[in-house]
Amino acid sequence: MPTKIEKDAITGTDTTGHEWDGIKELNTPLPRWWLYVFYATIAFAAVWVVLYPALPIPGATGLTGWTARGALREELAAGSQQQQAMLARIRAATPAEVAADPEMRAFALAGGRVAFANTCAACHGAGGQGAAGGFPSLADDDWLWGGSLAAIHRTITHGVRADDDNDTHATLMPRFLADGMLNAAQVGDTAEFVLSLTGRADDAPAARRGSLLFAENCASCHGDRGQGNQEMGAPRLDDQVWLYGGDKASIVRSIAYSRRGAMPAWGVRLDPAVVNMLAVYVHSLGGGD
Ligand code: HEC
Ligand code: HEC
Repeated sequence: MPTKIEKDAITGTDTTGHEWDGIKELNTPLPRWWLYVFYATIAFAAVWVVLYPALPIPGATGLTGWTARGALREELAAGSQQQQAMLARIRAATPAEVAADPEMRAFALAGGRVAFANTCAACHGAGGQGAAGGFPSLADDDWLWGGSLAAIHRTITHGVRADDDNDTHATLMPRFLADGMLNAAQVGDTAEFVLSLTGRADDAPAARRGSLLFAENCASCHGDRGQGNQEMGAPRLDDQVWLYGGDKASIVRSIAYSRRGAMPAWGVRLDPAVVNMLAVYVHSLGGGD
């Protein structure tokens, strides 16, 4: 029940006039400092609403014109400008210079990874691990055309047996059976010799006959012991890495009809900065030479 406002004898403060069962409520004033802070926050909020976008109206800006979106846009523009500057540096450098400069190298590895996922992974696998049917692994030490930065750069730029690039890697292995250079028995013997290079020949006399045929027909590209030749892109035949399969039937097929795997020339399709970044990235995968 509201009663009369009176002064409390003990504290000297007014009561509010409310009383319950004889207990009266004091009207204690707020501490001064609290009150001033409270007024200050109100004033701050008022100024804020004028200066910054605070009203729930689409497109509203304060007097300063600042918006979170605008700030982000500026930040992105600054970032892309920095990126353009870095790309220009990488474009003007050789792959070796890019790899030697820690800042350019870090940028190239990140950019190369993205470009690889977009452009190369379909054939070479997401991690460059290669795929069956002639798509070589780029993540091992086994290189068809050389694993140095310069060699990798050249292969990416000009491709392999690419018909729209005059500087492409162009070696063609003959189709020994199809072109009538060897008959079926001779192809079988040569395949037996190729198997013997990895200790897998079943027919020693055939492998011996094949060894003579190999020296005559194959050694110029694959090396006299099948050790391969990067000038020709002729793969090693004395290791466990096979582009087209290492069983006898696959080897016979490779000899009889040849394979002639092809890779597009990327120099005409990609920004030179991207080709440089890809070379550095691919080199980092395979350890390189
Ligand atoms: C259409 C499929 C295809 C695409 C896409 C492709 N490649 Fe290739 N790449 C090949 C084939 C096939 C070979 C092997 C050619 C041969 O038999 O010598 C090869 C070979 C290579 C080699 C040489 C490997 C060695 O052992 O010397 C490099 C390096 C390479 N590719 C990098 C790339 C990069 C980087 C990209 C992306 C820009 C790419 N490739 C995209 C099919 C492809
Ligand atoms: C003009 C060079 C050249 C000559 C000569 C040549 N090759 Fe090749 N050979 C290659 C190239 C390049 C490849 C890579 C595959 C391709 O054609 O794309 C290859 C691939 C192969 C492969 C498949 C390897 C794999 O990893 O799957 C076999 C097997 C092979 N050659 C055996 C022979 C034999 C045996 C002879 C002789 C009868 C021979 N080659 C003669 C260049 C040559």
